[in-house]
Amino acid sequence: MLNVAVLGYGTVGSGVVEVIKKNQDIVNKNAGQEINVKYVLDLRDFPGDPVQEILVHDYNIILEDPSVDIVVEVMGGINPAYGFVKSALEKGKSVATSNKELVAAHGAELLQVARDNNVNFFFEASVGGGIPIIRPLIEALTADEITEITGILNGTTNYILTKMSDEGLDFDSVLKVAQEKGYAERNPEADVEGYDACRKIAILSSLVCGKQVDYQDIHTEGITKITDLDIKYAKAMGCTIKLFGTSTIADEKVYSMVAPFIVTKEHVLGNVSDVFNGILVKGNMLGETMFYGKGAGKLPTASAVVSDVIDAAKFMGQNKKINWEQNKVTVSDVLDYECKIFARVKATKEAIEKAFGNVTYVEVEGVTDEVAFVTEKISERSFEEKIAGLDLIYRIRTTM
Ligand code: HSE
Repeated sequence: MLNVAVLGYGTVGSGVVEVIKKNQDIVNKNAGQEINVKYVLDLRDFPGDPVQEILVHDYNIILEDPSVDIVVEVMGGINPAYGFVKSALEKGKSVATSNKELVAAHGAELLQVARDNNVNFFFEASVGGGIPIIRPLIEALTADEITEITGILNGTTNYILTKMSDEGLDFDSVLKVAQEKGYAERNPEADVEGYDACRKIAILSSLVCGKQVDYQDIHTEGITKITDLDIKYAKAMGCTIKLFGTSTIADEKVYSMVAPFIVTKEHVLGNVSDVFNGILVKGNMLGETMFYGKGAGKLPTASAVVSDVIDAAKFMGQNKKINWEQNKVTVSDVLDYECKIFARVKATKEAIEKAFGNVTYVEVEGVTDEVAFVTEKISERSFEEKIAGLDLIYRIRTTM
């Protein structure tokens, strides 16, 4: 029997306890032995919940109990999670976490601590909720040079954009529903400003590069400036708006960013809707492959965490090598990134064409006090130079 301690009894923590309980037979079978939840750590009490019998408020009880083999960290945030996880690894306990903030900031270091102590640090649930993406990257797509990884990596914002687009609902009321469904972060700013997706693309990019891609180096824009008029323009083009986390890796250069994109319906990520996430990986031999599933929510995320518990059970006494060293990758300046850009301006068509040359105009019925157009493929730097003086209202990158 292996004993597990779950740190945090929030949405994901309670899901982990539920998945292990409901699927006890399949979990035990796949782990090769019984998986027992010995402790749950939380500051709160849960009267009436059976978890109360195994609830502890002091982390040292878990740390100092040699019978605890695996620690599940689902508290979120850096502190105290970082100290708890590091000390657990140093005590010879494997760790499974869903905490993308922790993994993005300290993943390489914690993997080293796990190696030094011959245990494992697993984080499947930190990206894409229930979608297997970490294990495929480190175990399956190993014969390829990965040239691009682009994903809809945040369920909350995808849910908001989908509902705004399909049902014409306003931003605030859709965000409230996403929070009620347990998709959103404690502070939803992390979702809507793109910070959550930024951590996730940093983790994926680090695994692809085998080195540290710092999330602080990733240009990040959220969805708070997207209006219903932008959505109408996208629809007029037969497109939709999605928040992408994307990294392209070519000629030793890594471009990485989180930003809204106008996406054609033909794009493989164009039909990824609601809380679903999709992650497109391009390899030099494989071509394109796509991972799709529920990117947030209690049970999908808990399912991924428990899959790590099972992997930790299988690799007891053996460190599973994950290539992610602490030395840093230099992320290239996003101003050199090239794509077609959609722009709304208060300027004449003559002025637009004088600055940009050939453009494609987009019209929405009833809108007469601005002009919208899509540029040819252009670098951000060049776009910024050309747009100066054209009274820009907003611009969105496109996948066209
Ligand atoms: N708030 C996150 C999301 C949860 O909406 O995707 C899963 O990481």
